[in-house]
Amino acid sequence: MTHQAIPGPASVWNNIEGISFGGDYNPEQWPVSVRLEDLELMQEAGVNFLSVGIFSWALLEPAEGQYDFGWLDDVMDNLHGIGVKVALAAATAAPPAWLVRKHPEILPVRADGTTLGPGSRRHYTPSSAVYRKYAAGITRVLAERYKDHPALALWHVDNELGCHVSEFYGEEDAAAFRLWLERRYGTIGALNAAWGTAFWSQHYGSFDEILPPGVAPSTLNPGQQLDFQRFNSWALMDYYRGLVAVLREVTPAVPCTTNLMASSATKSMDYFSWAKDLDVIANDHYLVAADPERHIELAFSADLTRGIAGGDPWILMEHSTSAVNWQPRNQPKMPGEMLRNSLAHVARGADAVMFFQWRQSFAGSEKFHSAMVPHGGRDTRVWREVVDLGAALQLLAPVRGSRVESRAAIVFDYEAWWASEIDSKPSIDVRYLDLLRAFHRSLFLRGVSVDMVHPSASLDGYDLVLVCTLYSVADEAAANIAAAASGGATVLVSYFSGITDEKDHVRLGGYPGAFRELLGVRVEEFHPLLAGSQLKLSDGSVSSIWSEHVHLDGAEAIQAFTGYPLEGVPSLTRRAVGTGAAWYLATFPDRDGIESLVDRLLEESGVSPVAGADAGVELTRRRSADGGSFLFAINHTRAAATVRASGTDMLSGERFTGTVEAGSVAVIAED
Ligand code: GLA
Repeated sequence: MTHQAIPGPASVWNNIEGISFGGDYNPEQWPVSVRLEDLELMQEAGVNFLSVGIFSWALLEPAEGQYDFGWLDDVMDNLHGIGVKVALAAATAAPPAWLVRKHPEILPVRADGTTLGPGSRRHYTPSSAVYRKYAAGITRVLAERYKDHPALALWHVDNELGCHVSEFYGEEDAAAFRLWLERRYGTIGALNAAWGTAFWSQHYGSFDEILPPGVAPSTLNPGQQLDFQRFNSWALMDYYRGLVAVLREVTPAVPCTTNLMASSATKSMDYFSWAKDLDVIANDHYLVAADPERHIELAFSADLTRGIAGGDPWILMEHSTSAVNWQPRNQPKMPGEMLRNSLAHVARGADAVMFFQWRQSFAGSEKFHSAMVPHGGRDTRVWREVVDLGAALQLLAPVRGSRVESRAAIVFDYEAWWASEIDSKPSIDVRYLDLLRAFHRSLFLRGVSVDMVHPSASLDGYDLVLVCTLYSVADEAAANIAAAASGGATVLVSYFSGITDEKDHVRLGGYPGAFRELLGVRVEEFHPLLAGSQLKLSDGSVSSIWSEHVHLDGAEAIQAFTGYPLEGVPSLTRRAVGTGAAWYLATFPDRDGIESLVDRLLEESGVSPVAGADAGVELTRRRSADGGSFLFAINHTRAAATVRASGTDMLSGERFTGTVEAGSVAVIAED
């Protein structure tokens, strides 16, 4: 099960042109006449890239060892005929009925012992040896059949790994978990030490005694829970690697990826650890219709995706043209919203814009999910907007390959997210993303670009680094963050950071252990607030969720708590470090408080907005290696807005007038 690094293939960007445009294509749901009409419509819309066959295993192999490739051969040939490149799926995201009947042991099992049955999708566990064998089998057959097909540009391996089910509690999973633990710890003594099993008589005599953290009378061992989370993320990726190994053997030059779900809603997979195994990062993103700030959540997801991609261009593998079918109330996108969404992803580093799905299904549970070709056909707003988007993306071809420019970074770590939200913490109101997203929102609203960076990745080149609720942190990562401050950056660390190491062992001697020296503070006790209560701070601002007993130990107090029992205790501190500074935030400020703090941090760090603009305009700049500078200005308001920039609006082809119309977008090739 160990991963052999296999020489990488050519870049997908060699295989596709411009800003690619398309979506999931499920022709198996349609008669040939419709598939032929699809070809005309694809040309009308300017589609040049499609993911094909994601859920087609049962039709490709209707009985074990019996294949029906006729329809897919035609589809591949026809798509090639109109110049469309294909991200061909390995078709493994939904096992066929014959396989489940023969091998029900492939089915996933929940913590409570319930086996999840077929009739939907993703009904397999990644640790099933049988499933891995069959999945590798269909993958090999597909690879052999299409290895020389001129339309094949990318392998789309499985689909949204970890979607619907991301924790697996069956017997085979338990065995794989034990093996994973044995490899991680070597000896049972090391595991006992790491999990702190002296507590509650949890000591293990051998690896054989260990089970996944299932349903138990009370709170479970946090080390076991954290490792189980790590294991599940690893198991999904290990399954992916097994399929990629097959593809590399047969098609060494064809790149491979799988579509991630990076957003504020996906916690279970450590995508930073997955990134090195994907030849190109691909992400799916869906708006939550009920969120009035859904465009800010989109920006967060796109920035996170770019972070996972290490700043390289990425593929937006799926988003929706309009409504989805899986929220309680599926409001359509407003006129122009799809264009704004699509170009917001491009603004934040996507070089391909794709949708779920090409043609809206007439049957099945996703029939009310929007698509590029709606039920109503061509005479619809959605279709007209799709055609307009295709035309817009063609005009943006010069943007391809350019990179987003940011001088601010937010440190992001899935492991800290997991560890900080395991039960029995000082407050259930401390949620990993809340403060992080409050800062991201503030920077978004100001037009300040920010990168999401893993704590152990290079922080060179960032003048402002925000470290929010980084509860658990390894020594090297803490040193990396400290080095950013001494090297000249303004670094802000928040409460509930640096508390534990990667084993989730508390760093003793006072909080925030890993950052105590950097920040010049020592916290002796946490004072989380009761539900709904607020605190007044010395400058009149208001905060909530958290307070604590901070002592200065080299830092200066900038602001303090008021009232009993923390009157006068610092709530915000600053320490000059090397050529930079380290700030400590000991509470969760309200929106005004965040704004005034961000003002100070931007002023000190010299980080400024991408351009000047009226409120409500989203701003991002991408720069290309040959000096091209592309300013994306997305007007999310219903009034015309001013943007101070000069150059050519690539979408109109005219000189940028300084005004972006209500709800529209300008992409300015700057002078
Ligand atoms: C996910 C899946 C798609 C489809 C969409 C619907 O992204 O990958 O197959 O189910 O959700 O939003």
